[in-house]
Amino acid sequence: MLLCHSRSLSLKPYSFISMATHRHNHRRSPEDLSQNGERHHNDTHNHSATKKPKLSLITAEELRSEFAHHSPSVARINNGSFGSCPATIISAQQKWQLKFLQQPDDFYFNTLQPSILKTRTLIKSLVNADHVDEISIVDNATTAAAIVLQHITWSFFESRFSTGDSVVMLHYAYGAVKKSVAAYVTRAGGHVVEVKLPFPLTSNDEIISEFRKALEKGKENGRKVRLAVIDHITSMPCVVIPVKELVSICREEGVDRIFVDAAHAIGCVEVDMKEIGADFYTSNLHKWFFCPPSVAFLYCRKSDKVSDMHHLVVSHEYGKGLAIESAWIGTRDYSSQLVVPEVMNFMNRFEGGIDGIRKRNHDKVVEMSNMLMKAWGTNLGSPPEMCSSMAMVGLPACLGISSDSDALKLRTHLRDCFGVEVPIYFRAPNDGEVDLVTGYARISHQVYNTVDDYYNFRDAVNKLVNDGFTCSLL
Ligand SMILES: Cc1ncc(COP(=O)(O)O)c(C=O)c1O
Repeated sequence: MLLCHSRSLSLKPYSFISMATHRHNHRRSPEDLSQNGERHHNDTHNHSATKKPKLSLITAEELRSEFAHHSPSVARINNGSFGSCPATIISAQQKWQLKFLQQPDDFYFNTLQPSILKTRTLIKSLVNADHVDEISIVDNATTAAAIVLQHITWSFFESRFSTGDSVVMLHYAYGAVKKSVAAYVTRAGGHVVEVKLPFPLTSNDEIISEFRKALEKGKENGRKVRLAVIDHITSMPCVVIPVKELVSICREEGVDRIFVDAAHAIGCVEVDMKEIGADFYTSNLHKWFFCPPSVAFLYCRKSDKVSDMHHLVVSHEYGKGLAIESAWIGTRDYSSQLVVPEVMNFMNRFEGGIDGIRKRNHDKVVEMSNMLMKAWGTNLGSPPEMCSSMAMVGLPACLGISSDSDALKLRTHLRDCFGVEVPIYFRAPNDGEVDLVTGYARISHQVYNTVDDYYNFRDAVNKLVNDGFTCSLL
């Protein structure tokens, strides 16, 4: 067991907020939406008609105070795992909680349902869905995946699908979702085909050609491909998947249903239901959208095929459609689902709103990944256009990361001894590969990050290298 060397962190803030005024014209930005989710069609021509309170851009000081509850001794470059929630939203959530506790019956009969509808309406506009009924609010992406997979299971049990019909999913699908596919679909008789992907990746073409091969495999022996599970942004290693192209290939190839697991997507990449064209799409709102844990939306495209959708937890509203069922799954805390209007106001305090935040996070994470790669003489996991607000950076080979367990131990060591929180990925060498990078760090950038967070990480790794550290010492 290696002892910790030091805990030297100087978290000096830096500001990337431009104080210049900016008219943001993206068609689906929350800036174009009022609090009740209605779009202001005449926004550019008729300012007086919008009547929305003018929000001033957040200052560097206000930004620091929004995230002052983050542990000051940790360089948190892992927004991807659990997201982050600013003080304004924590306080909005507490108000909702108190409102319930003050008069639960009134809250239940008069407040909860219209408030969840408001959230659904805002999300519907933000993601360009056709109808608010297509948007359900659920706990998290794991729950959303289980709802979709339960629906697929019934198709096997009720003989709409045949035993041996296929499900195609990425090899890099999220571990919990893979287990859910096994628990629901394999058990019901489905045959799972994984899309093998190389890593590092250099282009979308590599993904597209492997995906096509997997679909062909899924159709072997007269099977039908009943479901494709496609990540929008894979978790580990992280890469933005050309989801629109893959959905369109699925349609050409007659895949029955397409589920996009986009747990990281909203606030991180562009999300447009009409452009993507999937049957099901879920994104967490607590990862990159500043909601408190936990809340996600599940989009289910309106069609006869997907009408029989139900929440996993059956309650009073059973049979009234997934969105209504999901809005009451028994007595519990619904507050994280109700703060979306406040979240939108928060994001609109940044230049360019959600799109501006997303773009700056992307630019910064690319800049920081390049800085780390150069400092360590390694390589990146993918080109910048395949990164979102997260990027994979190769770690020096001499660290000797030779298993998943090494990767986890190194992560723990970085946390305990250097105050750096970053997930590490073990990439097994292919036959004949020697002295190659076998470990990659997944770095995130969110509005609260400062350049010192990444310098701390760089310096921690440099120290380990200079000290002759290898994972075998842990
Ligand atoms: C691709 C992907 N799917 C699903 C999940 C599960 O999200 P949650 O734990 O919020 O349900 C994650 C979490 O990181 C993820 O990265």
